[in-house]
Parts: sequence; C-alpha cells; structure tokens
Amino acid sequence: MNKQTIMDLDVKGKKVLVRVDFNVPLDEKQNITNDKRIISALPTINYLLDNRAKIILMSHLDRPKGKVIPKLSLKPVAKRLSELLGKEVKMMPDCIGKEVEQQVKQLKECEIALLENTRFHKEETNNDSEFAKTLANLADIFVNDAFGTVHRAHSSNVGVAQYLPSAIGFLIEKEIKYLNEAIENPERPFTAILGGVKVSDKIDMITNLLEKVDNLLIGGAMMFTFLRAMDYQTGRSKLEEDKIDLAKELLNKAKNNGVNLILPKDVVIADKFDNDADIKEVSVNNIPSEWIGLDIGSGTIAEFQNVIKASKTIVWNGPMGVFEMENFAKGTLSIAKALAEVKAITIIGGGDSASAVEKFGLSEAMTHISTGGGASLAFLEGKELPGISAIQDDKSSR
Ligand code: 3PG
Repeated sequence: MNKQTIMDLDVKGKKVLVRVDFNVPLDEKQNITNDKRIISALPTINYLLDNRAKIILMSHLDRPKGKVIPKLSLKPVAKRLSELLGKEVKMMPDCIGKEVEQQVKQLKECEIALLENTRFHKEETNNDSEFAKTLANLADIFVNDAFGTVHRAHSSNVGVAQYLPSAIGFLIEKEIKYLNEAIENPERPFTAILGGVKVSDKIDMITNLLEKVDNLLIGGAMMFTFLRAMDYQTGRSKLEEDKIDLAKELLNKAKNNGVNLILPKDVVIADKFDNDADIKEVSVNNIPSEWIGLDIGSGTIAEFQNVIKASKTIVWNGPMGVFEMENFAKGTLSIAKALAEVKAITIIGGGDSASAVEKFGLSEAMTHISTGGGASLAFLEGKELPGISAIQDDKSSR
C-alpha cells in the first residue's frame, strides 16, 4: 500500500473530515438491523479521539437520489455510534450549509459531529467539484475509511480529496491488506469459490481470478449457465441464455490456464420457487424439464469440501444456493462450515456471502469478512478503486 495513512498525519486539534460507510440496513421503524459497518469504523474514530482531533463524520445511506427522504436520515446511526462510544455524537441537520458550518466551527477537541446523508444532494454522486469543495471547507484534513464505496467516484470520497491533505483510515488499510495478500501473494493451493445468480455480474471477476487461482469452484444459479455451456439440460433453472457462449470461453480459458474449474455434479431441485415445494436431489444430467435447481447437491458439497480442506488460501464470493430459504441453504451452510474449520486464510467478499456467514454465526472463524459488496467485487475484478487512488501517496513512495 503506497497511500498515506491516518498515522502519517498530525491530527491533534485539527478538524478531520472522515468518510465512513454507514450505509447500514434499517427495518421499517428505522432500527439498525446490522451495525457491523459502524463497529468497523471504530478503530479510526477511537484513534482520532485518542489523538485529540475534532471529528466530522460523513456517509451516504441507501440511494435517495438527491432527494431528502427522512426515513434515510443518519439519525439512528448517530444514536448507535454514541452508544458504542459512550459519548455524544452531534447529529447535523445537513451535510452542507450555514448551520452545519457554524456547528462544526464550534467543535472542541474530541467532539464528534455526524453530517446528514450526503446523497440527499444530487451533486454527491455526480462527483460535483463545488459540492466537494464545500464539504472540504468544513475541515483541515480528509480521511477516507469507507471501504464500501471505494469503487465509487463521488464528491465525499474522491472530490473532497483534491482540496485537503488526505489519508486512508484503518478499515480501508485492513481490507486492502487482506484482499491484496490473498490475490497477489497467496499461499497455495489458492481456491476461489464463486456463486450468485448472474454470470454477467461476475465475468470480470472470473476472468481476473482465472489468472490467479489453482481451483475455481462454481455454485449458485450461475452454475446453470456453465452447465448449459457443457450441453446439460437445466429445466427451468435461472439461466442467462445470452451468456452461454461466454461461459464456454471461460471454461476454455480455465483449461488453457491449468485452473481446476469444478462445476456441480449434482443439484437440489424443486417443482417451484418455494421453500415448501417438492424437492429432490439429482445428478446434473438428470434435471427434469419442469424443475428448478436451487442449491448444490451432497456429492458436490463433498467434492468442494475436499478441495477446501486441501487449500491454503480461499476467497469466497456468492452463495451456493437460495440460502434465504431453509430447504436450499445446505450448500451455502456446508461451504461456510468448511471454511470455518480449515486451517487456511479465508476471505469472504461482502454482500450475500458475508450475510450468509453472519446468519450462520460463523463470522469469528473467518480470517476476514469484507464490509464492501460492490467494492470487494471490484477489487477481485482487478479494477482501479477511485476512492483509494484519490488519496495522497505516502511520502516514501513519492
Ligand atoms: C454498499 O452497500 O455496497 C456500499 O455502501 C455502496 O453503496 P452503493 O452501491 O449504493 O454505492
């Protein structure tokens, strides 16, 4: 990592504007249903408190598309954060404007203000430079610790970095360290387990990983596009007809690169998309035309488990089946358990696989669970991450 980190800056008595990812799930009464992202921001916030900074936090919440939507206010986050820190977090009425400027000016050392949802302003997602400048004018230093948005180029993470001395926080540093070591310098055998619905969402990731891994295990609904590429009949299973040729190319690429790509040999099928459907397990060459594949089968689970046991580094992105329904959760649960038990580096991409691991109560057993779904995907695709590129290089690498 050649970026300046928070430790490289003198923050004492300074107003430090910190971009965090407080995009947390809320229920219909605006209760936070998972506070992992708030907890993940604590190391940076506590460091700034210990070093007597004046702290201004900012984040988006959901996608209000430039409109003020009261139920997408960050107020519940201010409350939760204040409980976690045992200290007041002053909720600001907006993220820009006279009143905010005044309140921020009055902040004392070790006080914390939380700006209101940056996406209440349409300028945010356009990376508008005037908006970025207005945000930057609130502070002396900018720290980006929002790993979940590093793949976005918005005013609050990229634009603002043009106007202030900048650094990354501890969460981004940790995420990149684990993801980078796994991808660039893995202890081998290196295995990627990929699932989820659409091949089209994962093409770039598969292409990139085919240059890096020893084993590639494919589950989730996207397995059916690959199975069709191998001329199997897949019934009414979810499928991307227009991606079958691409799946063929990826299978060829795996062969040419010497990657051991393993597709399921059996699947759990149902007569309808329902937990209470009629269910059976069949080999992949025996899927009846009216049935739908919703999970990997037990032979596949056993095969995947053996590969996992023999691996030293494993990256997992995407569930193996419809794990939200109990009858189709076994594949995902078995893979999560195998990862929890293996003596290897285990990296879980954010989004659905992270939710699955949390749901099964296995989070503690993993080496690292990313807080960013889209962001970890962009990383695994080998793409540039604008939220990191925008930060100043550290002095030794300049
Ligand atoms: C996420 O939830 O992945 C991040 O907070 C980014 O949100 P976005 O996809 O709405 O930019």
